[in-house]
Amino acid sequence: MEPMLQIENIYKSFENNGQIIQVVKGINLQVLSGDSLAITGPSGSGKSTLLNIMGTLEPPSRGNIFFKGSNVYQMDEVDLIKIRNREIGFVFQLHHLLTEFNAEENTMIPALISGYSKTKSAEMASAILSQMGLKDRLRHRVGELSGGEQQRVAIARALIMEPKLLLADEPTGNLDKATGDEITKLLLSLNRSRGLALIIATHNLELAHQMSKQLQLVDGRFM
Ligand SMILES: Nc1ncnc2c1ncn2[C@@H]1O[C@H](COP(=O)(O)OP(=O)(O)O)[C@@H](O)[C@H]1O
Ligand SMILES: [Mg+2]
Repeated sequence: MEPMLQIENIYKSFENNGQIIQVVKGINLQVLSGDSLAITGPSGSGKSTLLNIMGTLEPPSRGNIFFKGSNVYQMDEVDLIKIRNREIGFVFQLHHLLTEFNAEENTMIPALISGYSKTKSAEMASAILSQMGLKDRLRHRVGELSGGEQQRVAIARALIMEPKLLLADEPTGNLDKATGDEITKLLLSLNRSRGLALIIATHNLELAHQMSKQLQLVDGRFM
């Protein structure tokens, strides 16, 4: 089976006040359709950096990333934008929702970007929000929703275009234990029922152990 995502010898460094810090130091990884993978490690170990690189949101300093066999940083920008919009869902550490807009409006943004009409995009948003258990919250402003509901909206927005890969950065990080467990259950059921490949960055080991694979980042490498 061709890997969905293949990462070859990735390095990433940042410059801070003239000082260069190496955050990722030679990571190799293959993700297959239906995989569930946890990337663990302490705060500052590079989990978000690596997830952003895997989500094609940020280029590595060195190394290659292949999405379904194509080298993403050698693609046309237009093709890469399409992949980001349609093939990869991303749930950010601080959900990045527009709090003044309602759940449906937030969720429909990727559909609007891809060219669907407003009516069709709203229909798609309402369908996926209902699947996330938010049928009765479509017109609620996101700022008025609970933390768990906001995270469900963020997941709905990531899934509206039906990507086959979902990346989630600390999806339970800002939630209480019970709500975090609910979100974990939801993500795992999406992985199992849709064959969605799931990659989670987390320092929550209980969550990590529910994934089929765990990789620990230590000093920029997988231990
Ligand atoms: N854009 C950036 N510019 C400079 N340093 C960064 C940037 N992003 C991350 N870093 C640094 O890289 C390291 C890893 O950060 P991060 O990937 O956010 O770790 P984690 O998600 O595991 O907490 C930290 O030392 C952080 O300060
Ligand atoms: Mg992080």
